[in-house]
Amino acid sequence: MHRRDFTTHLLRAGALAALPLPAAERQPLRDVANARHLLAGAAVSYRELQREDCRALLAREASILVSENDMKWQSIHPAPDRYDYTRADALLAFAKTSNAKVRGHNLCWHQQLPRWFPSTATSGNAGELLRAHIAEVAGHYAGRIHSWDVVNEAVFVEDGRSDGLRKSPWLELAGPSYIDLAFTTAAKADPQAILTYNDYDLEQDTEAHEAKRRAVLALLKGLRARNVPVQALGIQSHLVASTSPYQWSGFHRFLDGAEKLGLTIFITELDVDDTALPADIADRDRQVAACYQDFLSNALKHHNLQAILTWGFTDPDTWLNHFHPRKDGTPQRPLPFDGQLQPKPAYFAMEQSIEAAPRR
Ligand code: XIL
Repeated sequence: MHRRDFTTHLLRAGALAALPLPAAERQPLRDVANARHLLAGAAVSYRELQREDCRALLAREASILVSENDMKWQSIHPAPDRYDYTRADALLAFAKTSNAKVRGHNLCWHQQLPRWFPSTATSGNAGELLRAHIAEVAGHYAGRIHSWDVVNEAVFVEDGRSDGLRKSPWLELAGPSYIDLAFTTAAKADPQAILTYNDYDLEQDTEAHEAKRRAVLALLKGLRARNVPVQALGIQSHLVASTSPYQWSGFHRFLDGAEKLGLTIFITELDVDDTALPADIADRDRQVAACYQDFLSNALKHHNLQAILTWGFTDPDTWLNHFHPRKDGTPQRPLPFDGQLQPKPAYFAMEQSIEAAPRR
């Protein structure tokens, strides 16, 4: 895109004054974030980790990384008696050379369970399976993980339980106390990692998101009351660009509630689904950037927010093309970098919202 056109788009995205400077002249996002005592980074796939250009970009821009898939049960625990750390270890090795922190994702989830799980897990052994897995994996990485997503997506109000908990295999086999077990086991295995509860659909001012926020806050309150060692709340932040503006009052109340419980906040999986936007690329990029800016400038009002990670970093690698494809068949543009690894308006929106954040 012509530089002047690009600037016009940035300005239209709302007070985005920065010019897209060449990489060498631009301050890396990790430095911009660091000046505000924030970590900034992204989820990385093993494929991207093999690419020299991706490694260089991540080394420059990211102070925190998370594996997109390689620490999930399916990858790291391929047989009941076997763990495979090869791919996850590769991310840790890279993070060490680029001086980035690593989030662990995740220790307990209802998805991406290994093929052996359904035929092996029973109500008699599920608790012990969970305990042994967490002791082993969190133990393997002890002292090297910034924060663990100990339990992922345990709330699903639509399942109709009064406590809002998801009828996951863990809940059905081990009962609701599986959540306490996961956190206490993780704390024993890695006392240094910040133990996180991570979930989605917590951002918008809709009935459904409000009900989910209520259930998540109730869950966290209960954990704290029982002295279960949960220390942070991960807000996935899979946003959906819409033509009507977001309202943030419910989101602010929710973050205040988390703060009252003494919890740190991480934005763990930020991206912006653009399926509702027109095909025109410049228009889409502008509206996606506006969504980043709107969301981040609101979230950054909360001083307990400590890290911002996007779910992937270049558009062609987004999971959204598989999980929420656009009807017109064009690829989604939800992330801060394009396929040429060039920063998009969403990148500058991140930079500007962090720069404009209240001192912390
Ligand atoms: C997604 C990955 O991006 C995909 O590659 C994979 O096929 C499915 O999982 N919430 C989460 C992430 O916590 O682990 C999910 O990642 C995206 C939604």
